[in-house]
Amino acid sequence: MTVFADYAPWYDLLYRDKDYAAETSFVEARLRDHGVASGKLLDLGCGTGLHALAFARRGWSVAGVDLSDEMIASAKARAAKAGLSIPFRQGDACEAGPEHDFDAVVSLFHVASYQTSRNALAAMFRTAHAALKPGGVFFFDYWYGGAVLARGVETRVKVIEQKPLRLTRIAQSDHDEQAATVTVNYTLFCEETDRGTIRRVDEAHHMRYWFPFEIDAALAGSGFKPATHAAWLTQDGPSSKSWAAYAMAKKAGKP
Ligand SMILES: C[S@@+](CC[C@H](N)C(=O)[O-])C[C@H]1O[C@@H](n2cnc3c(N)ncnc32)[C@H](O)[C@@H]1O
Repeated sequence: MTVFADYAPWYDLLYRDKDYAAETSFVEARLRDHGVASGKLLDLGCGTGLHALAFARRGWSVAGVDLSDEMIASAKARAAKAGLSIPFRQGDACEAGPEHDFDAVVSLFHVASYQTSRNALAAMFRTAHAALKPGGVFFFDYWYGGAVLARGVETRVKVIEQKPLRLTRIAQSDHDEQAATVTVNYTLFCEETDRGTIRRVDEAHHMRYWFPFEIDAALAGSGFKPATHAAWLTQDGPSSKSWAAYAMAKKAGKP
């Protein structure tokens, strides 16, 4: 069973306040800044397909890959309901797939931090590189090490009500500074308030935070030209104020 197997049915509700449309606009603008304004876009670690659908609605020809069968099933159902033809497939972003000649590859909401070794990160970058056409652009975000170390980890509780459901999520994190990893132990209590039932789901997400120099080394080793790094949803450098940073790298050569 992969991570996200039990978590998947609750994923969209847990992140219902996340502004996927605004994020998609931001990523699209950065892609445009780097000379890619339209065409084929691959979403690596697409989850339930929320960014993928948003890109498709903006005219991109989108495909999506995710490790989790459950997340992919949800993405397929969402695309079918919206009448959008998006090839979603279950697969490992660290293994080369059949995708080629893409203008852009995106990997959003910490997929790079689910890769917890340098080898795995480099393998994911090689997949992105192989999928891109020359001149294509790779955009991804990651947990920025400077912020994780500066801010530390803490236990967080999130409660979401959408009648008749009430979700309570407890996130308790174990930080291993030597390995630059954080294991987030999620406990979800899923209540159906009208029926008085409650279900408990436990899932541990093993994450790795990265520093730009490590990312740059992995990108260079995977054939990319030097990357730019910035704090998520800004164009300023990664900062201790924000756990999330993003990087963009180009595949050498003309499209
Ligand atoms: C926090 S979710 C983000 C999903 C989606 N990109 C979004 O923005 O909602 C992280 C996703 O990365 C996927 N993932 C992690 N490692 C992966 C890998 N090696 N290959 C493919 N997908 C992976 C997980 O299955 C999960 O769907």
